[in-house]
Amino acid sequence: MRGFILGGITTIVLTILAAFFVGVTGRITMRADIVPTAFERSLAMRVMDANVERNAPKMANPVEPTDSNLVAGASIYRKHCALCHGDPIDRESPLADTLYPPPPPFGTRLIACLTRAAERRR
Ligand code: HEC
Repeated sequence: MRGFILGGITTIVLTILAAFFVGVTGRITMRADIVPTAFERSLAMRVMDANVERNAPKMANPVEPTDSNLVAGASIYRKHCALCHGDPIDRESPLADTLYPPPPPFGTRLIACLTRAAERRR
């Protein structure tokens, strides 16, 4: 039993030392111009979603989805966000290709979002 525990601890310590060695000897690529792997993207999104889920305040949206609120929100979006994120009419942002990381295109999602808000009001 003692040997098993010692073996486990040794394995953990060696794994940490190996990861440290790989990192400090410049073997982990940090270049921002390389497309992240599907695994990296999936992991990062899961970690971010889990963090938001855990830490974001739990509250109902204080803004009612009335016609005037939706129109005001769309207007603010067009004025301050659409340039980079696109909108339902001009889905392609003229700046998207110049930014890294690229801004997520909300134009398409915006239609789905507004449709859901309108359906909730029925
Ligand atoms: C100058 C360009 C620019 C403008 C203007 C801009 N954004 Fe962004 N936005 C970005 C970029 C680039 C990213 C991606 C950042 C990243 O992935 O680290 C981003 C990311 C986001 C994200 C995160 C999306 C996700 O999936 O994690 C949200 C939400 C967002 N923007 C909302 C807005 C809103 C709302 C506005 C307007 C009030 C706005 N942005 C205006 C460039 C912009």
